Amino acid sequence: MDFRSDNVASVAPAILDAISAAGRRSDTPYGDDALGKRVQARFAEIFERDVVVLPVVTGTIANALSISLLTPPWGVIYTGDGSHTLHDECGAPELFSGGAKVTPVAETAGKIDLAALKHKIAAAGKGVVHNAQPACISLTQASETGAVYSAGEVGAVGDMAAEFGLGFHMDGARFANAAAASSDSPADMTWRAGVDALSFGATKNGAFAAEAIVLFRTEKADELTYRHKRAGQLLSKMRLISAQLDAYLEGGLWLTLAAHANKMAQDLIAGLGAIPQTNLEGPGEANEVFVSLPRTVIGRLRDAGYRFYDWPETEPETTTIRLVTRHDNTADEIAALLASIREFCAAS
Ligand SMILES: Cc1ncc(COP(=O)(O)O)c(C=O)c1O
Repeated sequence: MDFRSDNVASVAPAILDAISAAGRRSDTPYGDDALGKRVQARFAEIFERDVVVLPVVTGTIANALSISLLTPPWGVIYTGDGSHTLHDECGAPELFSGGAKVTPVAETAGKIDLAALKHKIAAAGKGVVHNAQPACISLTQASETGAVYSAGEVGAVGDMAAEFGLGFHMDGARFANAAAASSDSPADMTWRAGVDALSFGATKNGAFAAEAIVLFRTEKADELTYRHKRAGQLLSKMRLISAQLDAYLEGGLWLTLAAHANKMAQDLIAGLGAIPQTNLEGPGEANEVFVSLPRTVIGRLRDAGYRFYDWPETEPETTTIRLVTRHDNTADEIAALLASIREFCAAS
């Protein structure tokens, strides 16, 4: 059983069917087809306003292109010190922005620390020619440690962006999990809280390869369109990506799938809470669960065929592991994992 990542998830049947249907017919290329237009309309409905939507094939390029719109080459991009943008994108935000500087900000309980953020921005040397210039904040929702920002918390970051005249990007590779876990609306969690551009994920939550840049600062639409093409993201057969997004959004499937993944995490957390040698690390508000266990138990779980990452991956003696739940996990899988942990803990 594989709890390494939601990237291992299967493709939701409705999305597979949509890909197949779109692939069996001819249509206008480069996104200028009926499916592409329907995807735009669906996003406008979800976010309660006109938005510009550009489908892309990875979260990395969604982040890099969004950020490149919001920062000049001499800019600073502020992001949480555990963020994907900082650690896992091979310098793509720097490349696509023409050399801007991604700068880590301390996180508290998995969320960017506002005081630390303010301090970094204020101390950056605005207007000093020798210093890279504050340009953009990038927030991850849900965060890499399984925390979900409320609309109010996003708004506090948005206020800071406004105070210092910075752009505001949201890495929403797991936006669906955040939205499903929250009582706030997608609009309140994004543009009404000051977000300029959102990387809206689908691949981790049932799509095959589909993400979307949702641009709220629509006056930047032309620039984004050219950047998108230059980055090789304007697929001639764009309908194969649009078909995934269309099926993903239809009837709220994106929220149904994410709510299931979140529920699996909640079940896991509840079960772990009853096992004495386990310690929950992190808030567990979306679909990522971090738990510390005796090393012997971690070894026995691996021997029994469970797959997961040590956390942090770079720390060989860590006793914390990351378990990511998915839209396609079953209650039986969670029960089996809990039974194994219970058994191995009792024997340790
Ligand atoms: C927080 C976050 N952002 C973005 C991504 C997108 O990555 P990829 O370029 O692999 O689609 C990921 C994937 O692991 C992620 O966890």
